[in-house]
Amino acid sequence: MFQILTMLLLEMQLYVVSALFTVEVPQQLYVIEYGSNVTMECRFPVNGSLNLGLLTVVWEQKRKDQLKPKEVYTLRKGRALPPSQHHDYTGRAALLHSELKMGRAILQITSVKIRDAGSYLCLIDYQGVDYKYITLEVKASYQRIKTQVMKKTGEDKFVFMCQSEGFPLAEVFWQNEKNSNLSGSVNTTYTLTTDGLYNVTSILTLKPNMSENYSCVFWNKELNEETSAHISTLGLYQLEFVQDRE
Ligand SMILES: *[C@@H]1O[C@H](CO)[C@@H](O)[C@H](O)[C@H]1NC(C)=O
Ligand SMILES: *[C@@H]1O[C@H](CO)[C@@H](O)[C@H](O)[C@H]1NC(C)=O
Ligand SMILES: *[C@@H]1O[C@H](CO)[C@@H](O)[C@H](O)[C@H]1NC(C)=O
Ligand SMILES: *[C@@H]1O[C@H](CO)[C@@H](O)[C@H](O)[C@H]1NC(C)=O
Ligand SMILES: *[C@@H]1O[C@H](CO)[C@@H](O)[C@H](O)[C@H]1NC(C)=O
Ligand SMILES: *[C@@H]1O[C@H](CO)[C@@H](O)[C@H](O)[C@H]1NC(C)=O
Repeated sequence: MFQILTMLLLEMQLYVVSALFTVEVPQQLYVIEYGSNVTMECRFPVNGSLNLGLLTVVWEQKRKDQLKPKEVYTLRKGRALPPSQHHDYTGRAALLHSELKMGRAILQITSVKIRDAGSYLCLIDYQGVDYKYITLEVKASYQRIKTQVMKKTGEDKFVFMCQSEGFPLAEVFWQNEKNSNLSGSVNTTYTLTTDGLYNVTSILTLKPNMSENYSCVFWNKELNEETSAHISTLGLYQLEFVQDRE
């Protein structure tokens, strides 16, 4: 792969002089929801009908925290080169072949993962060589918030719990309906899932005011996005009664 790239880059320098062949990107930044599909596009000039046998397209991904780029998809002289593809992209990355004749090298990645984020190089050799970079950002909203209420045994306090997964890391704050300060103590912790998502759990411990309800708010600061869950205190007396009898 590196040999190919070095060769193409040398070739490219020759073409820079004549500046005949230019790769262009209609969109430089893609912000994609975790688990969805993305198509990223590079355009190159096709004069008349496409001669596929002369076309080489290389898509590579590089993250800030990794030294070597990962090969996402390679079409070499019109033929796909699956053996050199990085295993992270196996079965998930494809070039939309029907678009090539229009001079569009469109990479599709399905079921986008957190580690797919990074900088993507698209390099095209078609009687001339050029490349561009595209940035892919991946976000995961804290959509499904699980809630739970438990009574602290032997105390008049309750434990309210909210748990959700997303990316990047969210801050959690708690509110009552009047948005006044809560007297309880809050403990928010997180772990990382194998998919690279943050699994955030927040616990509010307090003596609840039974004429108020409580909400936990997940604030994804980087995305400026808020999701929340409502916990009703209706029925807590009953819970207290049941648990006290145990
Ligand atoms: C993503 O692409 C796959 C394969 O083309 C398709 O089966 C799936 O429905 C797509 N998902 C979404 C959310 O569009
Ligand atoms: C495009 O093709 C036409 C006809 O084959 C040729 O005359 C012309 O020089 C080509 N232009 C470029 C930019 O290659
Ligand atoms: C918060 O919860 C974690 C995990 O349950 C625990 O290890 C830690 O001591 C708690 N911190 C406080 C301040 O209660
Ligand atoms: C997230 O954390 C909760 C509680 O700490 C745990 O029950 C759950 O299995 C975790 N979920 C994932 C996907 O790791
Ligand atoms: C409980 O909530 C009600 C309604 O918001 C309020 O009027 C009352 O003062 C609260 N009681 C305490 C002890 O905070
Ligand atoms: C608390 O929530 C329950 C269920 O959502 C609702 O029926 C009740 O009126 C709410 N109580 C207050 C004080 O807003």
